[in-house]
Amino acid sequence: MAENITAEEMKTLLKSQQGELDAVLMYNALAETVKDEKDAETFRQLAKEEAHHASVFKVLSEKTLQPKRTKAILLPILYRILGKKILYPFIARGEYNAVKTYEPVAERFPEVESVRNDEQRHGDIVKSLL
Ligand SMILES: [Fe+2]
Repeated sequence: MAENITAEEMKTLLKSQQGELDAVLMYNALAETVKDEKDAETFRQLAKEEAHHASVFKVLSEKTLQPKRTKAILLPILYRILGKKILYPFIARGEYNAVKTYEPVAERFPEVESVRNDEQRHGDIVKSLL
């Protein structure tokens, strides 16, 4: 792991790790919910990549966190109410926000740069499902 991680940096790493863990459950829950099989397959793949991201942050933080189910419960409900045309751009925006959020993190921890690139691709992929 990187040496001399400050309390502030640790806070950022743990928040990122938690977000990635929660995204695994969210994408798997969406995969179970969505009507289009192509969307479901895509979300299963994204879930796998988010799990990899969580492991990158875990190596840095050296902490084990438990995933939270909030988004995994909420997003399938929103899918049913709003439909994919409204929900998917919202999901893509979340991925693009992570690209911005991770910019200073990747400067400090170069391992995060590939994670950051993945989030950009995730945003593009989710948008391409529309
Ligand atoms: Fe991620």
